[in-house]
Amino acid sequence: MPEPKVLPIAARAAGCPFDPAAALYESQKDDALQRVKVPSPLLGEFDAVAITRYEDVKSALSDDRLQMGFVFDPDQPRTMLNQPGNLLNYNGADHSRLRRMLTGAFTIKRVRSLRPMIEAIVEARLDALEEEGHGADLVTVFSTPIPTQVICELLGVPYEDRDDFQRRAKVGLDVNTTREEQIQNLKDMDAYMATLVAGHREQPGDNLLGGVVRDYGAELSDDELVGIGNMLLIAGHETTASMLSASAALLLENPDQATIMRDEPEAVDGAIEELLRYVAPATIMPRQAAEDFCLRDDEVIKQGERVVVSILVANRDAGSGDQDLDVLDVRRPPQPHVTFGYGAHQCLGQQLARMELRVALPALFKRFPGLRLAEPDQKIDYRTTALVFGVNRLPVAW
Ligand code: HEM
Repeated sequence: MPEPKVLPIAARAAGCPFDPAAALYESQKDDALQRVKVPSPLLGEFDAVAITRYEDVKSALSDDRLQMGFVFDPDQPRTMLNQPGNLLNYNGADHSRLRRMLTGAFTIKRVRSLRPMIEAIVEARLDALEEEGHGADLVTVFSTPIPTQVICELLGVPYEDRDDFQRRAKVGLDVNTTREEQIQNLKDMDAYMATLVAGHREQPGDNLLGGVVRDYGAELSDDELVGIGNMLLIAGHETTASMLSASAALLLENPDQATIMRDEPEAVDGAIEELLRYVAPATIMPRQAAEDFCLRDDEVIKQGERVVVSILVANRDAGSGDQDLDVLDVRRPPQPHVTFGYGAHQCLGQQLARMELRVALPALFKRFPGLRLAEPDQKIDYRTTALVFGVNRLPVAW
C-alpha cells in the first residue's frame, strides 16, 4: 500500500487565498473516498478519510455514527478541546441536553431584537475609524472589536474588562502558543468567566448568559456555565472578525461588488450569503466513526476511522448544476453552503453572525464611499495557516 498523501483540508491556492488548493479539487473528482494524512496545528498529523463533495459533507455531518473525536473528560487538563459546557466536546444525548438550553437565545427572532445594539456598536466603530484621519488598519479598528463587543454584551462583560477579555480570546485561538500557555490562558479565562457566572447567579443580567442562568441555572453546574461562556467567546469572536475582514478585502478588490453592497439594500442579505459561501473561514472539528457505515452507498468508513471534511471546496461543488461557483457574484441567487457546518453541531450562532455582517459591511461602505486599499501594490496579509482563515492586517484609506 502506498503511503497516504498529505492533504491539508482547508488549504488555499498559492497566490489566490480565496480559492481551494488544487489537491482539494482533485480529491473531489476522485470516485473513491481518499485516506489521507491531515496536518493540524492543534493535533499534529493524523490519518483520516477526506470528504470534499458537497452532498457527501452533508451526509457525513448528519450521520450520528460520525461523532466528535474529543469528548469532555473531567480527568484530563482543561484545554480548548476539553471543556465542560463546550458543545463541540459532546455527542448524542449529552450534546442535545446542553444545546436545547441555548437554542432559544439564538433564534432569528431573538437575534432581530439585538439589531439596535449591533447597529450602535458598528456606528461607534465607524466613528473610531473616522477619528483615525484618512487611513487605518481595518482589522484592529473595525473587524475585531465588533464581534468582541457583541459577545461582551451577550455575556455581560463590564466595559473596563473588555481589553483583557479580548486578549485572552486571541491567545485561545493562537496556534503558535505552547500547550502550557494554552492551559494557563484557559485558567485565566475560567477564573474571569466564573466571576461573571457568580454575578449572574446572584442577579441574572438582562443578556444572553443572564437569561440562560435564569431559565436553566438549576440544571447547569457553574463549571458548565463557565464553559458555555468560553465557548461562545471562542466560537463567535474570531470567526466573525475574520469574516468581516476577509469580506472587506474581497470587496475592496472587487469594487463593482462593493457598490452593490453599498447602494442596494435589497441585495445585502444575498450578498452576505455569497460572501459566507465564498470565504468559508472556519474548519470543522475532525470526527470519528463510532461504527462501520457506508457513505455514497458503497464507500465503507470503518469504526474508529477519523473523518475530516473540507467546507472550503464543498462550497465550490456545483454538483449537477450549471453555475460556476468559483466566481464571486453577490447578486447570485443564494447557493446552499456549509460554511456554518451541518447536522447536530451546525453553528449555533449563525443568525447572530449573519446579523453582524449585514449591519457592518453595508455601513462601512456607506460611511466611507471612497474606501480603498492603502497599499494597493502590496499583497494583502492573509492568514492562511491558522484554524480560522482571515486577514492579519488590512490597511485602508478614504
Ligand atoms: C461567520 C461567523 C461564523 C462561522 C463561519 C462559524 C462556523 C461554525 C462552524 C463551521 C461550526 C461547526 C463546527 C463543527 O461541526 O465541527 C460552528 C459551531 C458553533 N458555532 Fe459558529 N461560526 C460563526 C459564528 C458564530 C457565532 C457568532 C457564535 C456565537 C456567539 C457561534 C457559536 C457556535 C457554537 C456554540 C458552535 C457549536 C455548536 C454545536 O456543537 O452544537 N458561531 N460554527
